[in-house]
Amino acid sequence: MSLVDRYGDWALIAGGSEGVGESFARQLAAAGLNLVLIARNPGPLDALAADIRQSIGREVRTLALDLSRPDAIDEARKLTDDVAVGMLIFMAGAGHRVEDFHAVPLEEWLTTLNCNVHGQTAFAHHYGGLMKQRGKGAMVLVGSMAGLAGSARLAVYSAAKAYSTTLAEALWYELRPHGVDVLALVLTATRTPAMARMGLDMDHPDFPAAEPDDVAAEGLAHLADGPVWIASGAAAHGDHIRSLSRRDAVIEMSRNTASISDQD
Ligand SMILES: NC(=O)c1ccc[n+]([C@@H]2O[C@H](COP(=O)([O-])OP(=O)(O)OC[C@H]3O[C@@H](n4cnc5c(N)ncnc54)[C@H](OP(=O)(O)O)[C@@H]3O)[C@@H](O)[C@H]2O)c1
Repeated sequence: MSLVDRYGDWALIAGGSEGVGESFARQLAAAGLNLVLIARNPGPLDALAADIRQSIGREVRTLALDLSRPDAIDEARKLTDDVAVGMLIFMAGAGHRVEDFHAVPLEEWLTTLNCNVHGQTAFAHHYGGLMKQRGKGAMVLVGSMAGLAGSARLAVYSAAKAYSTTLAEALWYELRPHGVDVLALVLTATRTPAMARMGLDMDHPDFPAAEPDDVAAEGLAHLADGPVWIASGAAAHGDHIRSLSRRDAVIEMSRNTASISDQD
């Protein structure tokens, strides 16, 4: 069954202008879906939308919006209330520094929380509720390996990503009887523009970065394989982290973070 037959012909990508969000956008458009794309910076967003309209011929709506705003869902609804959004990909979430908890102003950490926790919850509540009523749909909440255990220098981010994965797990079970597939798509190091801007080492020998197109294709291939899909061949590493005592898991995660951020 095609994605359109299974979920409908509109997808919303919250964080859909670059990186894995862009790859999802292109692959979903190629699969026949129209798109609603949200990101903060209008330049890349509008360029991607124009390219998809021209090269693939789908309808693409865009909204330049900060998803950490408390009213983000209300703004998104203005663009989507007249269409049936059958797929929600909540991608945005990496806007954080790799830094000690107390070295960053609280407002910055709250932005990370607002996007990943408040934003994912609000979007899943609204769009997932409509999918439940329609009896079909798919939601992908993007998580991180950093959410598998608390990591120093990523304290709020790792906690927020743990929330995201746990939320998706619960919704997977709740919505399954209603025909809605929910997936916590857990990413490992992936070569996105945001990571390049953060200066993280994407060529680390122990954590070679995945490519956005591959991650998106993998996510789409496993929409129905929830509750959790760890992408890019990192499932064994995830199992390893989960097999450790919490103490050892935190120590290993914190050392891994230090190693890719090139600081100790
Ligand atoms: N890349 C990795 O190595 C990696 C590893 C593990 C997990 N992840 C997760 O994968 C997802 C994608 O990460 P990424 O590296 O592509 O970086 P990202 O900063 O999350 O950017 C992804 C997309 O979201 C948009 N975005 C980011 N913050 C936003 C906000 N507050 N409001 C609206 N749009 C926003 C970006 O465009 P604008 O900047 O224009 O807003 C971009 O289109 C995130 O959830 C991240 O936590 C990534």
